[in-house]
Amino acid sequence: MIVCSCNVITDAHIETVLVDIFSKPDAPIPTPGLVYRELSKRMNCCGCVPLAVSVIYERLDALERRGQICRFRCANIRDKLRLIVNKTGGKQTVTVEAADSCSGVGSIRRI
Ligand code: FES
Repeated sequence: MIVCSCNVITDAHIETVLVDIFSKPDAPIPTPGLVYRELSKRMNCCGCVPLAVSVIYERLDALERRGQICRFRCANIRDKLRLIVNKTGGKQTVTVEAADSCSGVGSIRRI
């Protein structure tokens, strides 16, 4: 599945990068910006950020279930991040604290 059409980044690319990130000591919070940098890509339009956040955390859960990343590290990351997804009437709002979007702001909101 294509997550970022500007950079042609797929969910499989994201999963591979997450394994690399979590193999390092003191793994940082896997924000879309960090994941894209690990892929040597840069955000362009940022339209993919809400989907990228969803895919990152969905893949973290899958990697944890398969034992490919430490569940204690995942728990630590979840403590650091609060992801709030509200769906109302076809509109979606995603807020990620500590995100590093292309604009450098701390939260991302898409309605
Ligand atoms: S769709 Fe990802 S930066 Fe444009």
